Amino acid sequence: MNRVVTVALFLALLLLTPILTAEKCEKEAFFDMMAQAWEEMSQHNTGELARIREIISSFGLKEGETVLDAGCGTGRLIPFLLKEVGRNGRIYALDCSQEMLLIAKQKQYDGNVSFIKADITEMPLPPESMDRIICFRTFAHIDNKTGALREFFRVLKPSGVVVICNLLGSKELNELHKEIGRAVANDISPSAQEMKRLFLGSNFTPLELLDSESLYLMTASKPHN
Ligand SMILES: C[S@@+](CC[C@H](N)C(=O)[O-])C[C@H]1O[C@@H](n2cnc3c(N)ncnc32)[C@H](O)[C@@H]1O
Repeated sequence: MNRVVTVALFLALLLLTPILTAEKCEKEAFFDMMAQAWEEMSQHNTGELARIREIISSFGLKEGETVLDAGCGTGRLIPFLLKEVGRNGRIYALDCSQEMLLIAKQKQYDGNVSFIKADITEMPLPPESMDRIICFRTFAHIDNKTGALREFFRVLKPSGVVVICNLLGSKELNELHKEIGRAVANDISPSAQEMKRLFLGSNFTPLELLDSESLYLMTASKPHN
């Protein structure tokens, strides 16, 4: 997505924001507010959708797998994930923003999809229930990263893999968030070294630690029993 357009959109949304409701955490209100615009931007950004399709097809998902889309937003990854796991697979699409989920739920999907409104750090999912977790363009927004990894580890099956991915490197994304300010100003994508430390501290085995200008791809597996 064009950086100038992204920053302009975020700033316009911030200016339009009324005082954020007290019951919601600031982040949840922020993503609720930007859900419609996020969907419109996503639909028009065919280049990014093509990249997402290509990246998802490189994850090595298998027919019949159960996959958690952690921070699913308006559900744009779901069709690509379903294509990989097929009719016998299932996608759990989880997000803390009601408005993002509302848009995601309105779409027609060719396959098994369950929606969950929850925080990634406290997921109402049974232990060892997921083959794979995809956390796309979301990890930077989670304040409690250790808590998120703890939950990812809990819900993954033994040998399951977590994929943390973004289409910007950590330096580029962190600068972008600073530029946007307010709710996302301090949302940090950890460096590869820090991510390795976080994975190891959560008992994961790091697999890939790629942090280039235009691709952030951190994967780790849960050991066998
Ligand atoms: C930048 S959007 C990306 C959405 C989607 N993955 C995509 O690429 O279109 C980040 C999403 O993460 C969600 N999110 C942020 N922090 C979260 C948390 N702690 N728990 C659950 N969802 C969260 C937001 O509500 C938002 O929908």
